[in-house]
Amino acid sequence: MSNKNIIVSGIQPSGELHIGNYLGAIKNLISLQNESKGSLFLFVADYHSLSGEPVSADTKRAQVEQLIVDLVSLGINPEKTILFIQSHVPEVTELAWILNTLTPMGELERMTQFKDKSTRQNENINVGLFDYPVLQAADILIYGANNVPVGKDQLQHLELTRTLARKFNSHYGNIFKEPQALLSATPRIMSLTDPLHKMSKSHGPSSYIGVFDEPSTIEEKIKSAVSADNSLFEKITLLSPELVEGITITPSKSGSQNPEIETLIAGVKNLLTLYREFAPEYFKKLIAPELVEGQTIINPESLRYGEIKKNLGEAINSHFAPTREKRKEIKNDKQKLLDQITKNGITARTIAQKTIQEIKTKIGLS
Ligand code: ADP
Ligand code: TRP
Repeated sequence: MSNKNIIVSGIQPSGELHIGNYLGAIKNLISLQNESKGSLFLFVADYHSLSGEPVSADTKRAQVEQLIVDLVSLGINPEKTILFIQSHVPEVTELAWILNTLTPMGELERMTQFKDKSTRQNENINVGLFDYPVLQAADILIYGANNVPVGKDQLQHLELTRTLARKFNSHYGNIFKEPQALLSATPRIMSLTDPLHKMSKSHGPSSYIGVFDEPSTIEEKIKSAVSADNSLFEKITLLSPELVEGITITPSKSGSQNPEIETLIAGVKNLLTLYREFAPEYFKKLIAPELVEGQTIINPESLRYGEIKKNLGEAINSHFAPTREKRKEIKNDKQKLLDQITKNGITARTIAQKTIQEIKTKIGLS
């Protein structure tokens, strides 16, 4: 396998992109691409998406194309990043089969994403849904990835990928690298309406902000996001200016008697996280000048949610205004882009075929 820094990630084509996807994974991918931090492979995980509810062929094709257009509108450049369609490389399913034989059932049974999705699509708990993390491991290992930019919800799948790489190497001989997850500073954006759960397109449109939502929709959604009465909080601490996960909110006496305080705290923390990302200049104004033992303090008294939400809605809108424009332009001339994606698929497949040959030789299949 090559010694270069190989970066691999995938996104399912099942619904529109939201700001959780953007802040958790896509923004990171775009910076890595623009800083030329290695060879980047980004694919539309169409095989994975079959484990959800079945849709017609036309719908599936439209979803795949839409995701490609959306990723390029956001700044993925298919001439720099190998942006392609997962099923253009059928060798990943062959590797997934081989990895299946090294995967204990128990490892898959404890996967949070499987448990979550099983409750949501309880009429269709298919084997593909169960085996999903093994196909993901194949996606990552077949290109020899060192780094995998994803949100925090994917860490468990990455751990399994490393375990399978080690297992294969020790049974059949060294071939796979053990990839690391690359988390952004905002690896888990929460739902606007139920902030104890991650923002996800499967939790209904009012819970997430779509990157391509209309400006008025975005403002409306932010307006109805969970926030709280400031008297419920005693203090808000930022442990490190870079790490958003370092926001700590301590409930006041009246707060600790409130049974819903956890939800309210999570809602405020999420709003502040988004504020810091999209409106850093406004966010700085919330920080009290005094520093207590290296901790930056926000005075809860100073939080005015009406104003914060208004500024935040406007900031998100202006952040994505160029993206919306670019999407309109690309849509008018999609063919050139789709041809490039097909070419990229051939590039990816050539690498995958070489890996599969090496793997089969190691196992004794050929
Ligand atoms: P969804 O949960 O909405 O179906 P996907 O599973 O398609 O999202 O996720 C695509 C990428 O976005 C993955 O890397 C995932 O970890 C990341 N991601 C998804 N939701 C969030 C979130 N709420 N916060 C941060 N990253 C997220
Ligand atoms: N499981 C990822 C998600 O739900 C999508 C995905 C499929 C992926 N294969 C991958 C992510 C390989 C990173 C690497 O978002």
